[in-house]
Amino acid sequence: MPITITAANAVPDDAEVVGVPVAEGSNGPEVVGGGAAAAGVDVDALIARLVAESFDPKVGATALVAGLGDDDAPSVIAVGMGDTSALTLDVLRRASAAVVRAAWKRTSVATLVLDAAPAELHRGSAAQAVAEGAALAAYRFTRFKSDPDACTIEAVTVVGKGGKPVAAGVERGATIAGGVALARDLVNTPPGHLSPVAFADIAVETAGAAGIEVEVIDEKQAAKMGLGGIAGVGQGSDNPPRLVKLTYTPEGKARGHVALVGKGITFDSGGLSLKTGEGMMTMKTDMSGAAAVLATMSILPALAPKVAVTAFLCLAENMPSGSAIRPGDVLKIRNGTTVEVLNTDAEGRLVLADGLSLAAEEGVDAIVDLATLTGACLVALGPTIAGLMGNHDGWVDAVGEAAGRAGETVWHLPLPGDYRKMLDSDIADLKNIGGKHAGALPAGLFLQEFVGDVPWVHLDIAGPASVEEDQPHVPKGGTGFGVRTLIEALAGFAKPKGRGQTARQEPTRA
Ligand code: BES
Ligand code: MN
Ligand code: ZN
Repeated sequence: MPITITAANAVPDDAEVVGVPVAEGSNGPEVVGGGAAAAGVDVDALIARLVAESFDPKVGATALVAGLGDDDAPSVIAVGMGDTSALTLDVLRRASAAVVRAAWKRTSVATLVLDAAPAELHRGSAAQAVAEGAALAAYRFTRFKSDPDACTIEAVTVVGKGGKPVAAGVERGATIAGGVALARDLVNTPPGHLSPVAFADIAVETAGAAGIEVEVIDEKQAAKMGLGGIAGVGQGSDNPPRLVKLTYTPEGKARGHVALVGKGITFDSGGLSLKTGEGMMTMKTDMSGAAAVLATMSILPALAPKVAVTAFLCLAENMPSGSAIRPGDVLKIRNGTTVEVLNTDAEGRLVLADGLSLAAEEGVDAIVDLATLTGACLVALGPTIAGLMGNHDGWVDAVGEAAGRAGETVWHLPLPGDYRKMLDSDIADLKNIGGKHAGALPAGLFLQEFVGDVPWVHLDIAGPASVEEDQPHVPKGGTGFGVRTLIEALAGFAKPKGRGQTARQEPTRA
């Protein structure tokens, strides 16, 4: 049940609990702002209780304190804000999430976390982060639980002065969290319940509800259109592949046109180059890129950025069978490039190659693709950081900065021209695997072959698409990583300038 999040100037009378920000002061914990006192909380008594309990106000720490002030005073959830001189949007997001976690089985919660936002932070963005944190924390995937431990909170009130920007920020945060929840649901859904066809059906339904255009290409049309990557990867499964195209057109004049491309392998067994049992255990999440792209598209009409967006979901199931592609087979991608498939487990780049070719054909100003592309990226950057690669410095920087504002961590990796020869094939234009080392880079270089000279960024989300450890605003499982970054990048979109080819990633090219 999604919670309702609203903005208000004061703590509502019916709030059962109120989240109160507590910072590390020079003489111990300090309540930040006047909201708690205004709500009838005896702040001196609260501090005394926190000191008695040795409460350490590090970011996201919580303590429930009842019986402060008069009988009507709400219970307090003190939430640590850390050192307030280092207070960022992400601290607000995490602290707000921690309040919701601590109030899990309540009904009505007010949060004063916005009081801790420093004046340098944009008030609307701060309110957005607080709303996002609260809504993201309340998410759980309960579809298959007989006795789910779901959050019972129905209403969260974000309390703070700031008028319209705060109200708009709260609404924006709630909308974005709704998108992230859709992506998480898709990622968490078992692969037997989410075939490419089922995913495409959800895309059609979602697009209809959101008011965006949608077109579904089936396996026969895909073959006719020359989508050899999608058709090839999908041919080994009883569940046929799909390509979904979604289009968002803003009202008024657009600042440009962006294409989003998502890897949507609904299950990756590896194909005939079969994975190990352990290697397959998380491979229902191999459609996380497509999930993030669909989720982003679903909230664009509500957020109304002034940019046209065309999205391609490359949906297939990678299975071993008598009809599966074999190591040694050659596929022809949409743009005419032939690829020798030496490892059927490097399937993501094959389906994305078709999606990227179609994106480039649209004549867009910039492309972003999202993909759980390589185990090597997970090895390199770990479970919470995405690899960021691209062919244009300005666009790479823009997407990297958008991720920073969104509180999603990305790290720029190179696409060294020197490594392109790893992909040379004896019999076709390219092969689909590089050498032994740095596997995320040849994968990125492979994708680069299909974008022409359009500014393009590739996010390898193999790590952060799903996590095994809870964070305050990210319960374990599918994370919806990428939705917030894409929304930020689209909201602030400006056409990337110049050719933008990076010197820094081709250091040794003559
Ligand atoms: N979906 C996997 C990548 C992956 C692995 C994502 C682990 C998340 C966690 C991808 O299709 C794959 O299998 N890649 C191969 C490429 C190799 C055969 C060149 C890999 O990373 O091992
Ligand atoms: Mn694979
Ligand atoms: Zn895969």
